Amino acid sequence: MPNTNKSRISPRMERNTIFLNFLIPFIVLNLSNIIQNPCPFMHNQAVFILAIESSCDDTAAAVLRNDTILSNVVANQLIHNEFGGVVPELASRAHQQNIVPVIDAALRKANIQKEQLSAIAFTQGPGLMGSLLVGSSFAKSMALALNIPLIAVNHMQAHILAHFIAEEGFEKPTFPFLALTISGGHTQIVQVNDFFNMKIIGETTDDAVGEAFDKSAKILGLPYPGGPFVDQYAQLGNPKAFAFTKPKVPGLDFSFSGLKTAILYFIQKKKAENPDFITQNLNDICASIQYTIIEILMDKLKLAVKETGIKQIAIGGGVSANSGIRKALKETETKYGWKTYIPKFEYTTDNAAMIGIVGYQKLLIKDFENSSVVSKARIQF
Ligand code: KG4
Ligand code: ZN
Repeated sequence: MPNTNKSRISPRMERNTIFLNFLIPFIVLNLSNIIQNPCPFMHNQAVFILAIESSCDDTAAAVLRNDTILSNVVANQLIHNEFGGVVPELASRAHQQNIVPVIDAALRKANIQKEQLSAIAFTQGPGLMGSLLVGSSFAKSMALALNIPLIAVNHMQAHILAHFIAEEGFEKPTFPFLALTISGGHTQIVQVNDFFNMKIIGETTDDAVGEAFDKSAKILGLPYPGGPFVDQYAQLGNPKAFAFTKPKVPGLDFSFSGLKTAILYFIQKKKAENPDFITQNLNDICASIQYTIIEILMDKLKLAVKETGIKQIAIGGGVSANSGIRKALKETETKYGWKTYIPKFEYTTDNAAMIGIVGYQKLLIKDFENSSVVSKARIQF
C-alpha cells in the first residue's frame, strides 16, 4: 500500500519536525544539566582555586576549596642567606626552578587534578619584577591551557584578607577594621571597609619594619632574615636594658631608618669600649630593639584608633609572626577594649594561601583578567 501519510507532510514540515526532534531533547538535557550543575560561581557548589605567590624570595602555591585551604606549599630560597638580603636576579632564577615542583606538590597534597580547578589566582604586585613575572607567566599559561578564569591579586591586600581563610579557632574580622601590615617591604595602617574597599591611612616614609629588624640583626652579626632571630633572643632579655630614641613622625606615618642608624652608632660605640659587647648582651640588645619597634607600632595604632573610632585591629605580614607584637596586641583587648585578629603563623610570612583567599573573593564577584594583564612592581589598592 502506498504510504499516504507521507504525502500529507510537506518537506518544510518534515525539516521542522526533524529540527524539533533534535532541539527539544537538546534544550531539555541542557536545562536539566544547568539545574543539576549550576554555575559554581553563583551557588554554593565547591570551587577549587590554585594560587601562586612569587613576589619576593618565596615560591609558593596553595589549593583552596572555597575559603578552606587544602594545601599550602612554600619553597624558601636559602640562596639569599649568604648575601645578607634578597638578590633579585637570583630570586627570579630560583622561582623558575621551584615553580613546577611547588605547584605539583600543592595539587598532590590537595588531592586535586588540574582539570578540577575552577580558577588560577596569582600575585600581580607589589614585588620584584623578575620574581612576579615567573608566577604571572605560569598562571596565565595554565589558565589558558585549562580554559579557566585568571585572577590577579594585590599581595598587600592578601596579607590583610588572609584573616578570611576558614580556620578552626580563628574568627574572621567584621568590617570596618584597621589592618597593620608589617613585612620586609611594607609598613602600613589600612582602614578596611570591605573586601576591596581599603584605604591606607598611614605608612612608612623610609624603611619597612621588617627591614628595621633585619638590618639591626645584620649589625649584630645574625643571619638573614634576622627578624625571627631578634625575636628569639628578645624573649630571654630585658626590654628596658638599653634605650633607643623613637622617631618623631607626624600623623599615622612611620620612619625606621633613624632607628637603624641609632642602633648602628650605639653598637659601634659599645664595641669600641668592649669588643665582646654583642655576645655578652645579645638577649638584652634584641629585647630593647624589639621593645622600641613595638612601642613605635603601638603608638601609631592607638592614634589610628583615636582618629577613626575603629577598635577592631588585624595584623598581617611577616613581622606579625613576632611574639612581642602578638603579645602587645593581645593585651590591648583588656587594656583598651580592642578586638584583635592575629593570624596563624603559616599565614604571616609570604604564602599562597592568602593569594588564594583573595582569589576566592574575586571569583565570587567574577573579577577576572585576560592574559594581557601585566605584573606591577608597585601597585595601588
Ligand atoms: O611578609 P614577608 O614574608 O615578606 C615580605 O613581603 O616582605 O615578611 C618578611 C619579613 C622579614 O623582614 C623577616 O625578618 C620578618 O618578616 N619576620 C619577623 C619575624 N618573622 C619574620 N620579624 C620579627 N619577628 C619575627 N618573628
Ligand atoms: Zn609579604
